[in-house]
Amino acid sequence: MAVGQKQISPSVMCADFMNFGECIRDFEKNGIEYLHVDIMDGQFVKNFTLGTDFCKILKKETNIPLDIHLMVERPEDKLSWFEFGEGDYVSIHYESTAHLQRALAEIRARGAKPMVAINPATPIEVLRWVLPDIDAVLLMTVNPGFAGQKMVPQSIEKIRELRSYLDANGYENVEIEVDGNVSFENARKMSDAGADIFVAGTSSLFKKGVPMDESVKKFRESID
Ligand code: DX5
Ligand code: ZN
Repeated sequence: MAVGQKQISPSVMCADFMNFGECIRDFEKNGIEYLHVDIMDGQFVKNFTLGTDFCKILKKETNIPLDIHLMVERPEDKLSWFEFGEGDYVSIHYESTAHLQRALAEIRARGAKPMVAINPATPIEVLRWVLPDIDAVLLMTVNPGFAGQKMVPQSIEKIRELRSYLDANGYENVEIEVDGNVSFENARKMSDAGADIFVAGTSSLFKKGVPMDESVKKFRESID
């Protein structure tokens, strides 16, 4: 996808696992572009969520590309544990490794699209010397580790600054993904500020009792 095309990446850790197959079929029917898979190791963040087998099952069950979000210490030691390939995004946190460039290069060498994630307090400038190694930046709009949090207020300004920073350095094709409290209302502001890929979780697509078709339609109206 190119910058400017708005894409939805539902955070599947927020899904109703008692009806997960139906949820995936709904996503396929609605042309969802990615499946955001949150992987947490209890070290980098104080939580555990999905794992390596879950990614394998998703790769078998659907053709929707994965958007694997690794919230783990030393991701360079763990990339080989995961199945991913062409068309998949794999994000690793700037804050989680001393070997960021090497890990991003490994993701690209395996045919997937490297994405670097930065926490709310991390300055954009840390990205300078890995810009050639990435296809996207995951700008965290909450502090990582849990669903259901409130967006860090200064996130919108940070999205705008990141878009300008990428363009000013000649990386107009690097996409921006936003993750955390991407509600219908926040999604509009994030889109206007320059976000391309939206991780939709508990505050938008996974509202109890609301048909997925309806939520996706409303979400697309918020971002287009
Ligand atoms: C938080 C995860 C997010 C989270 C999104 O660490 O990276 O993907 O699940 O959930 P909401 O949309 O509820 O903030
Ligand atoms: Zn995430």
